[in-house]
Amino acid sequence: MNFKAILRIAILTIAATSGTALASSLQAAEPSLIQRGAQLAAVGDCIVCHTAKGGAPFAGGLPIHTPFGAIYSTNITPDTETGIGGWTLDAFAQAMRRGESSDGHLLYPAFPYVHFTHMTDADIASVYAFMMSRTPVRANAPANKLIFPLNFRPLLAVWNLLYLHADNPEPMSRAQDAQLDHGRYLVEGLGHCAACHTPLNVLGAEKKDRAFDGAVIDGWDAPSLKTLLSAPTPWTREQLSTYLRTGLASEHGAAAGPMLPVTHSLANASQADVEAMAAYIMSIQRSSPAAQAAPVKPAAGMQGGAIQAGATLFQASCAACHAAHSPMTVVGGRPLLSQSTSVNSDSPRNVVRVLLDGLPAQGSTASRIMPPFAGMLTDAQIADLANYLRVQYSKQAPWQLQADDVAKYRKETPTP
Ligand code: HEC
Ligand code: HEC
Ligand code: HEC
Repeated sequence: MNFKAILRIAILTIAATSGTALASSLQAAEPSLIQRGAQLAAVGDCIVCHTAKGGAPFAGGLPIHTPFGAIYSTNITPDTETGIGGWTLDAFAQAMRRGESSDGHLLYPAFPYVHFTHMTDADIASVYAFMMSRTPVRANAPANKLIFPLNFRPLLAVWNLLYLHADNPEPMSRAQDAQLDHGRYLVEGLGHCAACHTPLNVLGAEKKDRAFDGAVIDGWDAPSLKTLLSAPTPWTREQLSTYLRTGLASEHGAAAGPMLPVTHSLANASQADVEAMAAYIMSIQRSSPAAQAAPVKPAAGMQGGAIQAGATLFQASCAACHAAHSPMTVVGGRPLLSQSTSVNSDSPRNVVRVLLDGLPAQGSTASRIMPPFAGMLTDAQIADLANYLRVQYSKQAPWQLQADDVAKYRKETPTP
């Protein structure tokens, strides 16, 4: 590092720690406040959206893809020039509650402030203390690529009028159970689970009457969070809280796609917070009977030959990992595909996605990888494989997936 760089850091450090209201709140910040802030930031996935691929944590620059174009997350490190280093707690609270930046410009709801608005003052102050304790990084987010007229920020005032209920938060608690109340507060507020698991209307706002009914996000199905009891093996609260913190649960599939980073972030949340969220999610289940054990019968018109082709491909490309006595099931303790939500869903979307994209290594367990097959298998082969998995591993009605459908799914994940 040359002298100039050292000088710049020294100046930035002095600038960041002198004079401002922030500095006094920083010095006053108890380590426990910062620690609590870290746990809460983990529930809010701040790092997931505010870190670009290969970039410094919280320095922003990740494109968030919406039907209206790409919005880049901003730098929320305490750098005074390009981050939020000069922000007071009040300015930070205003962003979290009203989606307003410190200079008054309105923020896009790709930043889930419609959920963060429900946070308590104390929790906002903790997250603020944590953010201010991060290493400042100089970085400017690329310009957004939005279609007209949505590139005109003042229009967001209308959107907020319609969909931001900041002044009048719904009562978060109807139960008399402290853990459930806390879970609901986190799931609906900071945890913003509905942002992916609730269908959106044409203006990109969540359909309140369809909360947690499931939605498509980045080419993946975020399944309904109200039907966990109709899984081939109904979810338990313990399995759900393990899944949320590790991305894995016994007797259920592994977290993939956009859910995987959520679980990586929740790994740093407090166990009590995650257990409360799991308790709340279990409390909103539809009391539906366990999956019907309908007899497996190939659909009319389903080509026996195509299923056979799928079976052959499975033996060649998949069985080493997924067959009944493979090391993954025996040593790794991973369930058979029959317990996977994606194989049992009405839509073949997530099976196709996992086949195309594969699964990255999960933290330290490098052995839990599935290679991407997008470059190795044709659309027709992927269709045959998915149709075979459905017939072989699910009791639900067969899929009639065609090569064309796979081609459509292929195009759906935006290139970063
Ligand atoms: C789903 C993605 C997502 C998550 C999760 C998320 N953010 Fe953001 N955030 C964004 C985007 C995108 C923007 C930029 C919006 C814009 O420019 O209109 C943003 C902007 C902000 C801003 C305004 C910065 C500025 O310069 O105006 C703050 C502050 C902020 N986020 C803090 C947080 C915190 C704290 C968390 C975690 C509790 C968090 N964000 C979680 C996507 C996200
Ligand atoms: C190198 C090992 C490996 C190979 C080869 C492999 N997979 Fe996987 N696959 C995995 C792992 C690991 C998971 C995550 C399973 C878990 O932990 O529950 C997975 C998950 C899946 C899932 C999602 C299950 C869920 O979690 O919901 C499907 C579907 C799937 N694989 C199908 C296939 C098919 C079809 C092939 C062949 C084209 C294949 N896999 C090849 C390792 C592999
Ligand atoms: C960024 C989008 C996103 C967010 C935020 C998100 N999820 Fe998900 N979630 C998904 C997707 C996509 C899947 C399906 C992928 C998979 O099963 O691997 C999923 C799968 C799940 C599953 C597995 C369901 C099943 O039947 O197998 C559970 C449970 C779940 N999410 C709970 C939550 C909870 C609780 C939260 C809030 C703390 C949350 N999710 C936040 C996108 C998201």
